[in-house]
Amino acid sequence: MTAILLIGFMGAGKSTVGRQLAADLDLPFVDLDTAIEAEIQMSIADYFATQGEASFRQIESRILQEIVAQEAVVACGGGIILQTQNHQLLKRQPNVVYLQTNPDQLYQRISQDTQNQRPLADEKTAAEVTAILQPRLPLYQEAASLVVVTDDKTPAIIATEIIERLGKL
Ligand code: S3P
Repeated sequence: MTAILLIGFMGAGKSTVGRQLAADLDLPFVDLDTAIEAEIQMSIADYFATQGEASFRQIESRILQEIVAQEAVVACGGGIILQTQNHQLLKRQPNVVYLQTNPDQLYQRISQDTQNQRPLADEKTAAEVTAILQPRLPLYQEAASLVVVTDDKTPAIIATEIIERLGKL
């Protein structure tokens, strides 16, 4: 088996759902952002500020390539679909789950989340966040083998839906 990869915008719940899914399937959980931070030895926000987004995207692509073949549940960063090579790689994977969440809920979650620093979204208005989201929507759709609408569902319900729909019962 290869990885079950969760994609979707910031605030979609990829890490929370991923942990639940991994526990339900008795698989390891990998958070791609955490794996990147372990390698760069600083927070993603600091890395964006000092090295820039382009350099971050290169590291993100390399770690994704290393991780896809693992038998694990992987929560990808929201921008994983931006690089063409990542997008192509994801399209070839059998278990790519897009967590689709409405823009209002995404904005609420991002603005209320004090734990995660998000250099592209922090301090932004709802309209600015939607402007980042909009061009990404078709990319998430295209890369996904399964789309799960998360609105008003708990992480446990979402995880169960993924397991059922991926046929992993
Ligand atoms: C990003 C999303 C973040 C993180 C980085 C860039 C993006 O991950 O990788 O701040 O471009 O959408 P989360 O989706 O886990 O917040």
